[in-house]
Amino acid sequence: MSGMRAFQRRSFLQGVAGGVAGAVVAGSVTPCMARAATEDDYNLEATREGARSVPFYGVNQAGIGTAPQTAASFLAFDVTAANRGELTALFRALTARAAFLSAGGTPPPTPATSAPSDDRLLGPTVLPDDLTVTVAVGASLFDGRYGLAPSKPAQLETMHAFAHDNLDPAISDGDLLVQLCAGHRDTVGHAMLDILAHTGGGMRLRWRIDGFRFPPRPVGIPRDWMGFKDGIANPDTTNTAQMNQQVWVQPGAPEPPWTAGGTYQVVRIIRMFLDKWNVVPVDQQERIFGRRKLSGAPLYATSPTATDLLDPVYTNDPEGVLTPLNCHIRLANPQTPQTAATSAILRRSFQYDRSPDVQGNPDMGHVFCCFQQQLATYIAMQTRLEDEMLVPFISPVGGGYFFALPGVSDAQDYYGRALLT
Ligand code: HEM
Repeated sequence: MSGMRAFQRRSFLQGVAGGVAGAVVAGSVTPCMARAATEDDYNLEATREGARSVPFYGVNQAGIGTAPQTAASFLAFDVTAANRGELTALFRALTARAAFLSAGGTPPPTPATSAPSDDRLLGPTVLPDDLTVTVAVGASLFDGRYGLAPSKPAQLETMHAFAHDNLDPAISDGDLLVQLCAGHRDTVGHAMLDILAHTGGGMRLRWRIDGFRFPPRPVGIPRDWMGFKDGIANPDTTNTAQMNQQVWVQPGAPEPPWTAGGTYQVVRIIRMFLDKWNVVPVDQQERIFGRRKLSGAPLYATSPTATDLLDPVYTNDPEGVLTPLNCHIRLANPQTPQTAATSAILRRSFQYDRSPDVQGNPDMGHVFCCFQQQLATYIAMQTRLEDEMLVPFISPVGGGYFFALPGVSDAQDYYGRALLT
């Protein structure tokens, strides 16, 4: 037991050193292949799919207001750092790896007789491939272990079960959540393995779920497994005023000062019963969601070529004749004065597909993910959705509540610095 712990700690400290080295070479192109790379190789590399990057440094973390990528992994961790100093080292190591992986570059050369500095899964150069690494903390990190209790975000709590939830503790909660998103599956897997290799003694994987987003069919917002365009009505992420009002925590009580620029993150693993869903007539499916299936348009639009750019409006339909009062979109956002303060969240969800259950039924569903300035907004919305017509077709089985940290401002800064110092 103690030997195991010693091994974990040693690998973690190695990780910190490797992380710093990795961060320093971010963006550099030192060739380290057996054959010396020519300039042509690198020109080719730059035009390859995957050379695009999302800026890592900023007031807010990437992976929230930035465009959703195709592939994602949500990794929840139990922190095993022995004390506040080790926790700080863990956050520094995570920052160094995230900065390097997000920018891409050539890993430092290592002698053939030593452990390699990179698995080469992405080839000679680590391609950024739009990778975003988004780090969030759970309520349990603010227990007695690290003296952080007085700094807990005002609304952060452990996720409780709503009516109809069937939460499995094995895939719920966690001290930390690391959300990895990128253009391709190998980039996400590479980032995960890299981060695990460099943080081994500081945190232990608790649960993980992979997600993906489909291409538009045929245009616009991608569909979910239920065949509906999903993610149409969302805050405008390019509108700073709207993001500051609905998503980013602003300075001021009751939130502790370090939280400004962060946001509450909710992840819900929601299984879908697609065999049951796919025998429901389409007009009934449309009444369950409150939108047309093929076009994504609101229900008042009857033309097959109607656009999903039309906004749902309920002013002429107080009884819910056209758009049922208990349909998904109308309960999520009833457009009433009473619910105005609890109707805006930023959804950034993915689909999942896992091994079947013991009865042989597919385990497919939604990695529902959303960000909001107040956790209370999500809780009020989810409470309204307890009465929705979608209930028999879904089952929330896991996830958790987290607080996505403010952004890392520059190469001297690190995740959670204002929380830890
Ligand atoms: C399996 C689970 C879910 C599925 C399949 C699903 C699907 C959809 C679809 C198809 C739409 C309409 C198109 C759009 O505006 O994006 C929608 C809208 C929406 N959903 Fe969900 N959703 C799920 C869970 C949730 C949860 C858990 C919440 C929050 C508690 C939520 C909040 C919303 C909101 C706020 C809207 C936009 C409402 C509006 O302003 O019109 N959804 N969802």
